[in-house]
Amino acid sequence: MPVRSALVLHGPNLNLLGTREPGVYGRVTLGEVDRLLREHGRRRGLRVECRQSNLEGELIGWLQTARRDGFSGVVLNPGAFTHYSIALRDAVSAIDVPVVEVHLSNVHGREEFRRHSVIAAVARGQIAGFGPQSYVLGLEALLALDLGHGRPRVNQRRRPLV
Ligand code: DQA
Repeated sequence: MPVRSALVLHGPNLNLLGTREPGVYGRVTLGEVDRLLREHGRRRGLRVECRQSNLEGELIGWLQTARRDGFSGVVLNPGAFTHYSIALRDAVSAIDVPVVEVHLSNVHGREEFRRHSVIAAVARGQIAGFGPQSYVLGLEALLALDLGHGRPRVNQRRRPLV
């Protein structure tokens, strides 16, 4: 199904963007990020809806209803849930809507505990380290997935190749 409508989910503390550790996350506010994403979507023929929650259960609910709500792809920044929420991982794994995991910062170059994502293995892929552009690249990844429609999902093989 063509990706015409994408849901962007921001996890905990991302509502504080602009004032939260600006040395790490920059000075751009969440409202500005969301505007950038909606404008990018408009240029690329994609409707973009952005939501933020500090609550694990609310993010899970939005993932579960994404298809029903008309979205054909999700860009997800799980915030700190990235590193330990098996419930969020299970929600990503349970739905058939492609999910791209994104991070503003390069989590692989930060503290040890940020280097592991419990989400990455069940997401279609991960983009990290490009500030707000990580989200833009996430939208582009959803569009690219649609271009590759019908090709094997190489990162999601259930069986070994041999
Ligand atoms: C983050 C990285 C996480 O480790 C952190 O807990 C966040 C933001 C990022 O976008 O770089 O809240 O997901």
